[in-house]
Amino acid sequence: MYQIEELSEEVKNCRRCTLWRTRKNPVLGSGDSRADIMFIGEAPGRNEDMEGKPFVGEAGKILDQLLTSIDLKREKVYITNILKCRPPGNRNPSRDEIEACTPFLDRQIESVNPWIIVTLGNFATRYILEKFNLKAESIGRIHGRIFNLKAKNLKIVPMYHPASALYNPRIKGVMIDDFRVIGELIESI
Ligand code: URA
Repeated sequence: MYQIEELSEEVKNCRRCTLWRTRKNPVLGSGDSRADIMFIGEAPGRNEDMEGKPFVGEAGKILDQLLTSIDLKREKVYITNILKCRPPGNRNPSRDEIEACTPFLDRQIESVNPWIIVTLGNFATRYILEKFNLKAESIGRIHGRIFNLKAKNLKIVPMYHPASALYNPRIKGVMIDDFRVIGELIESI
């Protein structure tokens, strides 16, 4: 098995879609490349594009608070996104971009080999559930639910995207409750 760090060079040189033209830095991922838990967001935003690291802006602050709420340290988890480059103006990822970029994510999942994948928001949730042949529904219906893939020794837990808590304080309460689910899963190891 290759090391996840090897992907970094490939992502830097990637021109599989047009986002390389407008990005400042690609954002591969951060954290423990042998983590038990992997968080998957949507795409880098302005701050992430500038720093080359995932979730370092306002949504990242919310994610940090949620991790702290269940005593998880950022260095102990692995954090990445569906897209490795910022879509201009933070628009939604296009279908072509997702198709071009997710082979990187697939290799990250294979390399990290987590036993819990937490998908943040609709884009990550749809991609991951469909990848594992599960029916994707909107995040409003399935947030906080545990999808147990026993044969793969993997649990998938969809969550709202932390950015939605920036605009809607009610969602933050829901996310805190949903994060307890992850806390309980970890304790059940
Ligand atoms: N939103 C995301 O989905 N990912 C990031 O890295 C930052 C904001």
